[in-house]
Amino acid sequence: MRPRPQARPRNLSGWWLLALAPAVLSAGEPAYPQGASSFQANCAVCHGPAGAGLPALAPPLLSNPARYAASAEGRRQLAMTLLYGLFGDITVDGKHYDFRMPDFARLDDATLAATLNFVVFDLGHAPVTVPPLSAADLIAERAKPADGAAVRAHRQGLVPAGT
Ligand code: HEC
Repeated sequence: MRPRPQARPRNLSGWWLLALAPAVLSAGEPAYPQGASSFQANCAVCHGPAGAGLPALAPPLLSNPARYAASAEGRRQLAMTLLYGLFGDITVDGKHYDFRMPDFARLDDATLAATLNFVVFDLGHAPVTVPPLSAADLIAERAKPADGAAVRAHRQGLVPAGT
């Protein structure tokens, strides 16, 4: 009996490339490239290059910032944290941190907004329904001077105790 002619296998490599493209793009091309370079220059030393945090030094930025960006007070919290720093014990994803984040008020408003957008959208994957932060959000917060302890107090109103 003659063997059935084999169907010629289709070359699937093109499909694999298509399937991988979104992952490669999202890893390689941030939506906020200016924010990405500012993050690497200013934040990665403590929070890690991918925002995963460093144990006992600085918290991960992968959940709270995206959540904050969805509410008006949360957006204020993000702007405040960069402009005035953060001081005192906090709990993030069940882990305790008690250190001081320096302020970044010396950076311009557009750079700070881009840095936050990189954290919120590229690292935190906030949904596209969340509007990006803008320089105006930073300008509004510069008009209300605070310090790291006040920023922590404001944070307590946003994050349920112990989370
Ligand atoms: C010198 C280390 C250091 C650097 C640099 C740093 N951070 Fe932080 N960051 C911290 C620490 C420490 C905390 C927690 C502070 C505390 O314990 O009260 C923190 C907290 C935060 C929080 C609050 C998270 C939450 O759950 O409320 C955000 C947002 C944040 N950092 C963003 C940034 C961004 C963006 C940059 C860069 C512009 C940056 N940090 C640079 C150390 C740092």
